[in-house]
Amino acid sequence: MTLLKISKMGHPVLWRKADPVDNPSSPDVYNLVENMIETMNDAGGTGIAAPQVYESLRIFIFFVSKVRAQSEAQRLGLELEGDGSVPLTVLINPEIDFIGEEIDESWEGCLSIPNLMGKVPRYRSIRYRGYGLDGKLIERDASGFHARVVQHEYDHLDGILYPERMTDIRQLIFSSEVAHQKPD
Ligand code: NI
Repeated sequence: MTLLKISKMGHPVLWRKADPVDNPSSPDVYNLVENMIETMNDAGGTGIAAPQVYESLRIFIFFVSKVRAQSEAQRLGLELEGDGSVPLTVLINPEIDFIGEEIDESWEGCLSIPNLMGKVPRYRSIRYRGYGLDGKLIERDASGFHARVVQHEYDHLDGILYPERMTDIRQLIFSSEVAHQKPD
């Protein structure tokens, strides 16, 4: 496995609509995903999309820790299935449907926008589907942090970065200053 360079805000690869993957089970896709996993883990991310490693393809990976799922569920008053954690998931050629009209705002960061955080509105609940590395269809309902991370990563495939989703640019801050923000 190889650590990949992460593209940063301003590089055109992050603004491009990524291309569909022809064959999710190909060795090239497998190798790319392996390297994305290593790169995400090294950088301490909870998700990464292929354009963030300069590959303009409709692939992202993510996981949800129990701690993040439960703290967001508690804040929003959501009921979680099980402990709320989601294992490392690979989604190739994903699609999202938004469920309901409820929107929540929460802090997000992005490996392509280091040291910053922003408060971003996202749909509370979604249903998503996509192909795994084995070519099998994955289909899940998600809410809270799980839904947020999938919407964030999906946006990367359409060339959208989280500041473009923000409604109050004053809520784009340095991560080091988050303690000064109002608790929510
Ligand atoms: Ni991101």
